[in-house]
Amino acid sequence: MPYPFQIQTRSDYDQQYAKSIEDPIGFWSEIASHFKFSKKWDQVLSWNFKEPRIKWFEGAKLNITENCIDRHLESKMDQPAIIWEANDPLENERIITYKELHQTVCEFAAVLKRHGVQKGDRVCIYMGMIPELVIAMLACARIGAIHNVVFGGFSAQSLIDRIQDAQVSCVISCDGAFRGPKTIELKAIVDEALLQCPTVKTQIVYQRTHSKINMLEGRDFWWHEELTKINSLHSVSTAPEPMDAEDMLFILYTSGSTGKPKGVVHTCAGYMIYACYSFVNVFQYKKKQIHFCTADIGWITGHSYIVYGPLCAGATTLLYEGIPTWPDPGRLWDIIDKFQVNILYTAPTAIRSLMSFGETWFENKKLDSLKVLGSVGEPINEEAWEWYSEHVGHSNCPIVDTWWQTETGGILISNLAGVTPQKPSFATLPLPGIQACLVTDDGQEISEHEIDGFLCIKFPWPGMLRTTYGDHERFRKNYFDRFEDLYFSGDGAKRDENGLYRITGRVDDVLKISGHRIGTAEVENAVNSLEDVTESAVVGYPHPIKGQAIYAFVIYNGTNSNYEQLKAGINEHIQTHIGPIAKADKIQIVKGLPKTRSGKIMRRILRKIACGELHELGDTSTLLDPGVVDEIIANRII
Ligand code: PRX
Repeated sequence: MPYPFQIQTRSDYDQQYAKSIEDPIGFWSEIASHFKFSKKWDQVLSWNFKEPRIKWFEGAKLNITENCIDRHLESKMDQPAIIWEANDPLENERIITYKELHQTVCEFAAVLKRHGVQKGDRVCIYMGMIPELVIAMLACARIGAIHNVVFGGFSAQSLIDRIQDAQVSCVISCDGAFRGPKTIELKAIVDEALLQCPTVKTQIVYQRTHSKINMLEGRDFWWHEELTKINSLHSVSTAPEPMDAEDMLFILYTSGSTGKPKGVVHTCAGYMIYACYSFVNVFQYKKKQIHFCTADIGWITGHSYIVYGPLCAGATTLLYEGIPTWPDPGRLWDIIDKFQVNILYTAPTAIRSLMSFGETWFENKKLDSLKVLGSVGEPINEEAWEWYSEHVGHSNCPIVDTWWQTETGGILISNLAGVTPQKPSFATLPLPGIQACLVTDDGQEISEHEIDGFLCIKFPWPGMLRTTYGDHERFRKNYFDRFEDLYFSGDGAKRDENGLYRITGRVDDVLKISGHRIGTAEVENAVNSLEDVTESAVVGYPHPIKGQAIYAFVIYNGTNSNYEQLKAGINEHIQTHIGPIAKADKIQIVKGLPKTRSGKIMRRILRKIACGELHELGDTSTLLDPGVVDEIIANRII
């Protein structure tokens, strides 16, 4: 039996799309009727992009964990909900059935309650890729606490920013995390951060690596010890907290073009429906299939397509602790064969990196269980697409190129595997309910094909963000100010003669480094905070594996003349402020930066220099000091 809202054919897609535009209220309320609500909504949608205000299914009551777990108990009690593969191939896998997931989530929810965590409290989760991370998220959702997962690769300073901004009261962490050959000492990083986070009263620590750590009495508690206290009290079945449809489900921080990362807020009902609807349709998930998304749960892809989308659909989701290239670049193929994975969802940067190791890593790997392949996070180049299709999919699996964002909650533009057309490096068509458009610089809608435009959405969809935490005005300015009555994505795109979208990349100061989203302003702030740095400008340039890499132009007035030392020092500083993902591949020490007469750095010129497009610099005569450009070009790092 297919899912009731699963699109089966191209004409079905056309019909559903048309219906979703003509009657969005009827369309979404029909889909919502397949979810579990303890009280039905009074109104499907109220919205206004000017204020902005977006509310879906107001008046309804639900708990997402009932949809992700409880409602599957009858028919799928013993079906694996989560299959976990450890970092080390010699360590045993763990299989967690829906029944066990229910049990462990209820128990851990009781632990949180016992520690005073209440509905609406913010809980920061900073863990490696282990089932307890999923359990912690679901336990928060069970009791109505708002989770704020922070990627384990972020530094103490990033953690401080995210904990302080969300006024977190409880942190859930691990002693450490295994990632390839490395052990990341997570607890030590949290301890450093908490020195500056007075709102945090409790930390619950899961023991994973057995690293030696310090536990602060009265604040830090071991996960396993807390569980025993709960179990000895009663058999645990923590009741799901009835949540309003528009109550916050989670906050996830992401980079913008200015200032510090912003807390993207997703709410209970709309996010749930959209994550599940898009999962079932894009990947064409069939019951009992095994879905493997390689993203980290610290990013939105992990939230929507490891945790909420698959679990809501009653799927089996595979969680892998390690990295694709360790202990060798055949690791993902081994995992696929071991568990007979049906759907693989990964990032172009991972594909390109595996490509660089050659095809010998496919020897003795069958990969014949695969039915669908997916790509996410950045544009996928044709060469990587073809390689993915041929060597991983044996030219037998559709590839879905899924365009979306932290803000969108789920996939907005993508082919539906095997149902709608695919085209290498094209995200193709919007999902039903998604009114995408391209506009010119002055907001005029573009109807012709092959014209570059700004990618916008005209109408709300249930999975969209509702605000940026603690700063609604920033939300308005970021997404609704540039073009009237449109959600602006920050991406550029064009359409071919068949209306298929090709995403060309960010048109703002946001970079995509190995698929990780990083704001140039964040990196500049980190570099500028270094003593002896007067100013800096950071831009991206194309990189064969990472997609984009960082080029930093730095005005340095210190005395160290050893370039390699200086570069290492700057990168170390970036690592402490943000994390290793934001390190610069190229750092050029400059005397001055190209600025307009009003003092604004002309990043456009620096971008061209970094990309080697020296003949396309445009008019530099309006610069305050055009001479700096010649100096920068002369010392350009190639
Ligand atoms: O530039 C687009 C790029 O990733 C951005 C969103 O990043 P983030 O919020 O971290 O979410 C990543 C996972 C959804 C977008 O603005 N992007 C994402 N998917 C694609 C993409 N660019 C091209 N093609 C894609 N399929």
